Amino acid sequence: MDHFHYQDGELFAEEVPLAAIAAEHGTPLYVYSRATLERHWHAFDRALEGHPHRICYAVKANGNLGVLSVLARLGSGFDIVSVGELERVLAAGGDPAKVVFSGVGKREEEMRRALEVGIHCFNVESEAELERLDRVAGEIGTRARISLRVNPDVDARTHPYISTGLKENKFGISMERAPEAYARAADLAHLEVVGVDCHIGSQLTDVTPFVDALERVIGLVDRLKSDGIRLRHLDMGGGLGVRYRDETPPEPIVHAAALRNLLEDRAHRDLEIILEPGRAIVANAGVLLTRVEYLKHTDHKNFAIVDAAMNDLLRPSLYGAWQAILPLRPRTDLPLTLYDVVGPVCETGDFLGKERELALAEGDLLAVRSAGAYGFTMSSNYNARPRAAEVLVDGTATHLVRRRERVAELFAGESLPPA
Ligand code: LLP
Repeated sequence: MDHFHYQDGELFAEEVPLAAIAAEHGTPLYVYSRATLERHWHAFDRALEGHPHRICYAVKANGNLGVLSVLARLGSGFDIVSVGELERVLAAGGDPAKVVFSGVGKREEEMRRALEVGIHCFNVESEAELERLDRVAGEIGTRARISLRVNPDVDARTHPYISTGLKENKFGISMERAPEAYARAADLAHLEVVGVDCHIGSQLTDVTPFVDALERVIGLVDRLKSDGIRLRHLDMGGGLGVRYRDETPPEPIVHAAALRNLLEDRAHRDLEIILEPGRAIVANAGVLLTRVEYLKHTDHKNFAIVDAAMNDLLRPSLYGAWQAILPLRPRTDLPLTLYDVVGPVCETGDFLGKERELALAEGDLLAVRSAGAYGFTMSSNYNARPRAAEVLVDGTATHLVRRRERVAELFAGESLPPA
């Protein structure tokens, strides 16, 4: 459930008509709903009530400071993959003690900064990273809490680009090597082994792969226990899918129940569960607003050329993702026509949606739904296009949480070579 709805013939975010926000801030424009963010975060938190747990929102899905601060105020933890994301969390008032640091390529200076601010845990992805982290922690005279990201080799049955838990993927350490890697970690003086983690993919619409992965991870936890290594937490990553069109992903409560079911017995009851949801919290809490610049009718197709493009929202171009496109003020004075909704970027792959039935005139406003996750964060300046502005709606109030980028900012860091 989200807080975008039609009322009196126009699309609203909470209590504000989206057309009014577009009139004030221009397009392309991302608009997020605070009530939706909070509702989705609470759904995860409540689903694990009664079992020790922590929700570490995956910053990569949407790292806007306004979004992060809403979640930080709920007491959320954060899953980061770079020092840039760490600085965002800190700037938004997030608690470093609730941060987990994932990613296959952590640089030394990133480790140093994360240790300095005292993050909760490093999700280590290779044996080489263990050695490096031990050295860096030793240099600054501290101990790093670690979990090993294991690769449970389960098929997440999602798009191959966002499937991460198969043997052939670059992520994590194989189940076979894990006990040895843990033994090494336990031997290193500047590491403290606290957990295990896995993340098998994104946009999962079925609980079975999560359950399969957890069964394998529990097997490892038990094996480590008999080797004398006791873990305190088990991080199952993110990956719960959302409805873009007609998908029926499990609700957080169903997902959590399936996991809890496997952890109910005495031996595992005290293991803290960490989840790293990104998409399921923000995707349907955001829309991308865009204006129709031109309509172009050819013998083969009708095009609606809009002012947002693949540089603003890459998912349709990169994954062939389908996201709903809705008029802010549905018309009854024009016939419904099949349009390809395309941007101004010079690539045939620059489209937001294909064959959408819409009644349109030049200047009309559209909303691309489910754009809160992996929308702005994957945007670029391709074709020297400044990045969109972002607005957070809170009841009847709107807050500009990122102003539109200016053209001069695009080359502010560049310089001319000497003559
Ligand atoms: N934890 C780790 C270690 C991850 O790699 C990811 C996502 C998450 C958590 C959050 O997963 P989520 O709950 O959002 O599914 N750009 C793609 C999605 C890439 C996901 C990468 N990792 C898309 O737009 O579909």
